Amino acid sequence: MIHLTIDNKPIEVPEGRTLLEACREHDIHIPTLCYHPALEPYGACRLCMVELSQPGRTPRLVASCVYPCEEGAVVKTKSEIVVRSRRMTTELLLASAYNTPEIQALAEELGVKEVRFKVDKENACVLCGLCVRACQEIVGVSAISVIERGIAKKVAAPFEVQSSRCIGCGTCVLICPTGAFQFESVAGFQYASPQESAHRLGYYHLGSELDLRPNFVKDITGLLRTPSEEE
Ligand code: SF4
Ligand code: FES
Repeated sequence: MIHLTIDNKPIEVPEGRTLLEACREHDIHIPTLCYHPALEPYGACRLCMVELSQPGRTPRLVASCVYPCEEGAVVKTKSEIVVRSRRMTTELLLASAYNTPEIQALAEELGVKEVRFKVDKENACVLCGLCVRACQEIVGVSAISVIERGIAKKVAAPFEVQSSRCIGCGTCVLICPTGAFQFESVAGFQYASPQESAHRLGYYHLGSELDLRPNFVKDITGLLRTPSEEE
């Protein structure tokens, strides 16, 4: 077992737990966006930052979803620097996904009322990577990926051409926290249709596979259900 202190409480967790998992097991709330318990942690959104102090080291901010619990660590989840970091991250998210209810709720939770940044175009995709990882890790298809770099970064099918690997299961739609991926019905078929046209290229209609889809989606939905939803 590993012994650490979180928000002045001594805590004991089995080896291999991340700080976020330890906090959740002890009812300590940490906001997250790119984390899902059914997927490998990714560390993309930086909302889950906590302040970590270890013997002989300067205290620093770490992403709790990817950082392992270590013996003797002292963690603060609500210190001033943590709150400032989360607010800044939320402000940046809000600058581009300003019409997204999930991001608005996050801003409300963290008390972010003003946005100092301006972007040319709204984009509900916050590049959390959940859709890409779910497609790879749960469906085993890898029909989409994060492409380009910097401000051009986006989710799309490889080379932005229609992916023959996509089976139209809709897992990306189910897991997307911001609604950037959405279902739409076209000519009787269900397509996964993200707002950005680049995403759309990754999908093709199901044809003869259509009959298999309801069960497949049900299985996937079960996998994506979080432990709290199962209770
Ligand atoms: S489309 Fe949704 S799930 Fe995929 S990276 Fe963007 S916000 Fe995340
Ligand atoms: S939840 Fe940890 S970086 Fe996104």
